[in-house]
Amino acid sequence: MRTLTTVTELRGHLDDARRGGRTVGLVPTMGYLHEGHGSLIARAAAECDEVVTTVFVNPLQFAAGEDLDAYPRDLEGDARTAAAAGCSVLFVPPEPEMYPHGRDSVATSVRVDSLASVMEGASRPTHFAGVCTVVAKLFNIAGPCRAYFGEKDYQQLAIVSRMAEDLSFPVEVVGCPTTRHDDGLALSSRNAYLTVPEREAAPVLHRALGAGAAMVAAGESDADAVRAEMARIIEEAPLGELDYVEVADPRTLAAVTRCDRPVRLFGAVRFGRARLIDNVAAGAP
Ligand code: PAJ
Repeated sequence: MRTLTTVTELRGHLDDARRGGRTVGLVPTMGYLHEGHGSLIARAAAECDEVVTTVFVNPLQFAAGEDLDAYPRDLEGDARTAAAAGCSVLFVPPEPEMYPHGRDSVATSVRVDSLASVMEGASRPTHFAGVCTVVAKLFNIAGPCRAYFGEKDYQQLAIVSRMAEDLSFPVEVVGCPTTRHDDGLALSSRNAYLTVPEREAAPVLHRALGAGAAMVAAGESDADAVRAEMARIIEEAPLGELDYVEVADPRTLAAVTRCDRPVRLFGAVRFGRARLIDNVAAGAP
């Protein structure tokens, strides 16, 4: 595995690869890689000849007061995890390489209107424009490729897929299932913020979503009843502070009133310094 730090080097490397008939897989990350990221890299390695993992903590997607400065970093560990999963190029651009005019002077950005105003977008109004802007840049830098995103961040996956269609990027966006601990907690770089008691309590989020999915499977079609039950489970558990639970259309992300077709169940809970999100499918596929 090689590590590249400049846009010019990465473009040159991937142009050469494609000229040689090799396909390219792209796995954008903010580093502090865990097995969830590893599963995306392994999937890309199974389906593409050249696999680029990008590690860049994107300042544009953090609002003032969020955890940009505290975001965990471990480049040596990232290199080991990425290589073990089959990555061929680790792209680690310094900030001026991505934002040559400075992070506060980005004049052009990308936003996806309707999908980005709900759920995560409601409490983080500038977040998805920051995500889309950096992902659009990475798509332009990488060129034609398959790009792998986790269902863990389902709203992000839906928004990036839509952006790729709306703006005709030569990129096929591939969604990958969520990797979880044995107790159901989704792997996340932000789990590093959890204290021991918070870590013990945190699986309640996935338990609540599972209970909601079981209600839908048992024939409950009133979305508000499903929301209320998921909220009750989270609110009765210790330490977690409920942000939202939602029952939404898996494509438009609009809240639904009836669960009479496939839906997606979402939740966000704050445990101390960590704000955790998760989601599951419910109803007939
Ligand atoms: P990051 O949080 O590092 O996640 C990188 C990718 O890994 C995302 O596609 C995310 O959905 C996926 N991922 C995280 N945890 C996962 C898990 N437990 N199972 C499966 N996939 C998982 O998401 C971002 O970075 C950034 O917003 C980014 C897209 C890189 C733009 O800056």
